[in-house]
Amino acid sequence: MTRVLVTGGCGFIGANLISYLLDHSNWEINVIDDLSEGKLQYLTSLDNYIHDRVKFIEGDIRDEGSLEDAIAHCDYVVHLAAQTDVISSINAPFNDADINIMGTLNLLEASLRHNIKRVSFASSAAAVGEQTPPVDENKIPSPISPYGASKLAGEAYCSTYAGSHGLRTTALRFSNVYGPNSWHKGSAIALFIKQILEGKTPVIYGDGNQTRDFVHAYDISMAIHSSLTSDIPSFEVFQLGTGIETSVNELYELIKTRLEDEGIDVPAPNYAPARAGEIYRHYCDIDKARNTLGYQPKFDMKEGIDSTIRWFIKH
Ligand SMILES: NC(=O)c1ccc[n+]([C@@H]2O[C@H](COP(=O)([O-])OP(=O)(O)OC[C@H]3O[C@@H](n4cnc5c(N)ncnc54)[C@H](O)[C@@H]3O)[C@@H](O)[C@H]2O)c1
Repeated sequence: MTRVLVTGGCGFIGANLISYLLDHSNWEINVIDDLSEGKLQYLTSLDNYIHDRVKFIEGDIRDEGSLEDAIAHCDYVVHLAAQTDVISSINAPFNDADINIMGTLNLLEASLRHNIKRVSFASSAAAVGEQTPPVDENKIPSPISPYGASKLAGEAYCSTYAGSHGLRTTALRFSNVYGPNSWHKGSAIALFIKQILEGKTPVIYGDGNQTRDFVHAYDISMAIHSSLTSDIPSFEVFQLGTGIETSVNELYELIKTRLEDEGIDVPAPNYAPARAGEIYRHYCDIDKARNTLGYQPKFDMKEGIDSTIRWFIKH
């Protein structure tokens, strides 16, 4: 039986990935999470949750003992556990580096000891920083936040462990991911929906014309699964998004229209000065993922926002 370890599996992408794997594979799933951000309840409340197929270990990826328990008998590793907040990384760069760099190094060492067949590492568009879009894998990375720098360092160690030890690794540069199980997230879609449902007025930082490539967590889960099973060289980097550029103002309008259909009043957003460390324009070129991983995003923004809002209203 194939067994995969998902670090950070109780977080937003983790819960979506585990739901996907329960439906699309017969794999057993180990999860290590320190529950600093995620919730075990995200897993146990999944419609398709199968208790016998998921083993949960509460622990920190920087703790070798916890990691040993979690990785034992695994074939693959998906490394999602991280400090994920750009602004926190600017205020506390050592904490960001400790979790994202030392934690990743610890995991790569454990993966080597346990003959893991492939490690798929959750990198980020932030690793490449401000670029003229569309962003493909050939851009020279120039991160503009400590978070981007620590993700780039994680990619570098993945490449290093492939080069020095033959450990097969993949770095997946997610653009802005959204979807169900994101109650705790501070990213635009989750925050706007949550604040509007709580009767608050969302704040847009900057003029709202900044753009992102918003991709649904189901599509990211599909790509993670393919990255583990596809026959690809020992280290590869992939940009993962939709290839579509959407401004924050357009996003707000989409959310507003959908919530008003539910009979919910949606205020006009407040605007505040742009925040340091955040990219202005982003969308990516997904041709490499399409050609190599057979990646084809299924959700357009309207369907994706709809599924996210339905989850928020239900929960
Ligand atoms: N959500 C996005 O838009 C996005 C975009 C680009 C990259 N990513 C990356 O994808 C991964 C998953 O992101 P997410 O949005 O699901 O975030 P999340 O915060 O929901 O999930 C991360 C999980 O890791 C856990 N965790 C944090 N530090 C840990 C530690 N030291 N030991 C063990 N567990 C720990 C948290 O409790 C949480 O459950 C992260 O690596 C993130 O950097 C996310």
